[in-house]
Amino acid sequence: MVDRELHRGLEGIAVAETRLSSIDGERGELVIGGFPVEGLATRATYEESVFLLLNDRLPTAAELDSFCTELTGYRTLSEEVEQVLRRAARENVDAMDALRMGVAAANLGVDTTEPTEAREYAKRLVSVIPTIVATYWRYRSGDAPVEPREDLGHAANYLYMLSDDEPDPAAVRGLETYLNTVVDHGLNASTFVARSITSSESDLVSAVTGAVGSLKGPLHGGAPGPVLEMLLTVYESGDPEGYLQETLDAGERLMGFGHRVYRTRDPRATVLSGAAERFYADAGDEAFFDFVEGFEARAVSRLAEHKPDRPLETNVEFYTAVLLYGVGIPRELFTATFAVSRVGGWVAHCLEQMADNRIVRPLSVYVGDRDRTWTPVDEREATNSPKASTE
Ligand code: ACO
Repeated sequence: MVDRELHRGLEGIAVAETRLSSIDGERGELVIGGFPVEGLATRATYEESVFLLLNDRLPTAAELDSFCTELTGYRTLSEEVEQVLRRAARENVDAMDALRMGVAAANLGVDTTEPTEAREYAKRLVSVIPTIVATYWRYRSGDAPVEPREDLGHAANYLYMLSDDEPDPAAVRGLETYLNTVVDHGLNASTFVARSITSSESDLVSAVTGAVGSLKGPLHGGAPGPVLEMLLTVYESGDPEGYLQETLDAGERLMGFGHRVYRTRDPRATVLSGAAERFYADAGDEAFFDFVEGFEARAVSRLAEHKPDRPLETNVEFYTAVLLYGVGIPRELFTATFAVSRVGGWVAHCLEQMADNRIVRPLSVYVGDRDRTWTPVDEREATNSPKASTE
């Protein structure tokens, strides 16, 4: 039987089985590769998280060692991709657009006459995205790109390539917690895009290129930059109530709040607020963190008054902004840094889709006309109405 009921935004529709992550939106629980996010995020290295997603188990010490060596070997960019990024930076292209261009060209320099396994592309994409982002940023800042270092882990090397400074261990730990926390999250928009592209038996580079485009939007991965702007503006003005009232009265959305699935505080917000609290305490900047916590409480309470029928709680992007700002990621790179992590989930989902594939092909409900009569082109009158040919 064909279901013609409209499910806007595919809400409530399950279209794939996965072993990668599970979300309970009512209870506010997230499990990644069998581990509650709270247990994984602060313990794992990012490389362990990706191994877990690709293999459905944690690596032994020897396996982790060889996995890290493999990843390290894929960090460098071809000269052509560097040129694309240099040009993108020169033309002030946004970081996510530059990343999309870099990813789309990521198989330049790979010998495509040799069949390359999808798993190899998966590792290459995970490894090369931080280099694409950092190279773009260096050019954008008027600096020379920094070559990746083999002796540094994934998170530390990303920070190093961005700044050309020895990475601070507290910043590495903060970033690593972030990367583990957001590595996978069920069938979010960008992951669905990646799986849909894969379902036509297309390739991983195409799937990840599409996913980057989806992640860019402000309703998905584009929120943390505006969250930071909001927090810094209100921190300076000292008038959180005024800001909240003005924003909600204007019918605008408060960035960093609300979620399609969670009806509670996003569990990732809880993990990231803990990491941010530790980071700001170590850095001796409790004042900003205290302000953030106070603002969050006021915002949740104002949102409850504003939309009493819809629980609108803190989502992951709120504390993403706070933590990434603290560890020194430039605001312009927040969404690209989300991609640095989420690519691990995207490629693991693509491999799952390949292993049990059926092309994604939902239905649409046609609401257009059916009885138009054809008018020859020289007899048509100019009009803005889409129904011109029937009038
Ligand atoms: N501030 C104010 N009102 C909100 C907010 C918000 N942050 N979020 C939802 N609402 C309101 C909507 O205006 C809507 O009201 P209406 O019924 O009167 O039109 C109602 O709550 C339901 O909202 P929907 O858009 O139907 O919720 P949906 O599940 O489609 O969207 C989303 C979820 C996109 C996250 C939304 O809450 C939002 O726009 N939040 C702000 C942006 C943001 O923080 N994005 C990051 C999300 S996390 C991530 O993707 C990693």
